[in-house]
Amino acid sequence: MASITPISQAKPICKAPGFGVLKATKLQSLVNPTWDFSQSSRVLIQRSRMVLVASASASASSSTAEKQKKRYPGEAKGFVEEMRFVAMKLHTRDQAKEGEKEPQGQPVAKWEPSIDGYLKFLVDSKLVYDTLEKIVENPTFPEYAEFRNTGLERSERLAKDLEWFKEQGHAIPEPSAPGVSYAQYLEELSGKDPQAFICHFYNIYFAHSAGGRMIGKKVAEKLIDKKELEFYKWDGDLSQLLQNVRDKLNKVAESWTREEKNHCLEETEKSFKFSGEILRLILS
Ligand code: HEM
Repeated sequence: MASITPISQAKPICKAPGFGVLKATKLQSLVNPTWDFSQSSRVLIQRSRMVLVASASASASSSTAEKQKKRYPGEAKGFVEEMRFVAMKLHTRDQAKEGEKEPQGQPVAKWEPSIDGYLKFLVDSKLVYDTLEKIVENPTFPEYAEFRNTGLERSERLAKDLEWFKEQGHAIPEPSAPGVSYAQYLEELSGKDPQAFICHFYNIYFAHSAGGRMIGKKVAEKLIDKKELEFYKWDGDLSQLLQNVRDKLNKVAESWTREEKNHCLEETEKSFKFSGEILRLILS
């Protein structure tokens, strides 16, 4: 029968210098005092490990090395698949079919967005993309340079969209707290914690290409007569651009230790928290 490694035997997963579980919890509780970041994130990763360790143990003929290889969901396909696995579980059930969280508020199809709220969302998103794109242009860690000119960049496109709204007579707001906090967080992280930074990089660009596009379409139907903004257009084949970035992310992560990979995965929840606050501006 399959044996399951108890959670208490799992090794600690957050070992990056200066960015331990306690610090993460403290920061998260500042952003949202009810958020239990360290616990829920660790349980998610550990739960995934339990299932995989159980299936590895079930095969008595597997060697220890094989079991090690099977321990992390998606690992065989490369590290991006591991990041995707963690991200998908953090969706609510109504957002994506792989989502495991309870739905909160209305599903996107029932959103009642406002132009003012959408403009706040676009302005704050631009600040986040400006920050990411500046960081990879002037990389503090050499691996960031891989992510220049991927074709996924959004900053210039958002500038064009905001110009269009201005021409339509709308006042463009200054960035608000969610965007300012996220940009500041990314800036700080990029200088000291490449694994955590790359987790945000992945989630921001890939979320926009998936759920982000769907949200853009729904909002455009309700607010701007279905006009497709530049934010939702890419030069060339988007799936190929995404695949190129997946390949680069997998390559960069090949040199990471298991602890560094787990540290990156653990940052996913914070990426959802910050991006979720920016998304909610659409409804403000
Ligand atoms: C209302 C909010 C959201 C909705 C409706 C949504 C919806 C979706 C959907 C439908 C997918 C595609 C699933 C598939 O491939 O079958 C997806 C993928 C994904 N989402 Fe979200 N999402 C939302 C918010 C977020 C947030 C806040 C993040 C993180 C910042 C995020 C990160 C991702 C990632 C990393 C993927 C995988 C993309 C890929 O594999 O190419 N999502 N989302």
